[in-house]
Amino acid sequence: MRLIFLGFGTVGQGLAELLLAKKTMLAKEYGFKPIVVGIADMLKGNVYNPQGINLKKALELVKADKPLSKLLGKTIEGDALAFIKQTKADVLLEATYTDVKTGEPATSHCRAALNKKMHVVTTNKGPVALNYRPLQRLAHSKKVKFLFEGTVVSGTPMINLIRDTLAGSEIREIKGILNGTTNYILTKMEEGMTYESALAKAQELGYAEAVPDADVLGWDALAKVTILANVFFNATAKPFDYPCDGITKITPEAIAEAKKAGQRYKLIGRIWREEGKVKAAVAPQKVDLTHPLAGVSGATNAVTITSDTLGDVTIVGPGAGRRETGFSMLIDLLHLGGKR
Ligand code: HSE
Repeated sequence: MRLIFLGFGTVGQGLAELLLAKKTMLAKEYGFKPIVVGIADMLKGNVYNPQGINLKKALELVKADKPLSKLLGKTIEGDALAFIKQTKADVLLEATYTDVKTGEPATSHCRAALNKKMHVVTTNKGPVALNYRPLQRLAHSKKVKFLFEGTVVSGTPMINLIRDTLAGSEIREIKGILNGTTNYILTKMEEGMTYESALAKAQELGYAEAVPDADVLGWDALAKVTILANVFFNATAKPFDYPCDGITKITPEAIAEAKKAGQRYKLIGRIWREEGKVKAAVAPQKVDLTHPLAGVSGATNAVTITSDTLGDVTIVGPGAGRRETGFSMLIDLLHLGGKR
């Protein structure tokens, strides 16, 4: 399986590190022996080599702030679309920056790759939140897959869990903490850290989006809510069709007051059905300290899926991070090319 990394930031590097660390195990247990033939990044340059790229060296170069063009292979002139058009691979790993307002340029990257009959694995919420159906149809018509496990709660099972493991269930409600950065900030503010320091730390730990406004204004959670609504509730929504409020208005005083009253702020995303219509919203809520969501701290996410078959199933796990989101891409890759 020949792979191309598009975007080699936190997530791409997280996956590259896992592929190297698990190389022997993946080959032995899954018969999975991928070859990375291309890496293209807006800031780090690009390299293409049909014989394969030295991934370890690529990581070393990036850590040393040196361009990827120093690797053995050729450099493709132009943008990411030019790179996709002029290269050959089986899978495009799309991990460029997310824009939940336009879904671009990531949607065009996905479309170009699918048109070339490449599978697409992405962690980018933009294309899925805004263009899930057309991209899925295109993938289907080209007999390839469009996979996006990492778009919701990183590598913690969610998309594949609902689609495959809960297959045959009618999903009635999905509700929970869907953004790691804001949950981390709220947790740290309650411990006495300032909003600014907590946000800076979340950026350092690789939780926050490239533009962290998307986290603190609730847009990242909104994109995830929209993905879940479109994929599992048959909605045809765009992110800003739903009401959304973030955490920027929550002051340290409000957090302290809630604490005194035996409560804690959480940013909650919810999708549900009401009178035959699909509804969704993102808003901060005060939950009692005895409520299960109150105990979910830091960048951990927690989601309760209510179905006709099982009632409530709750998943708690990492919702962000380098290794965690890199891992989500590994799951999708193994679905494409691993045999066990
Ligand atoms: N910025 C996101 C979060 C990353 O903090 O949850 C995962 O989508």
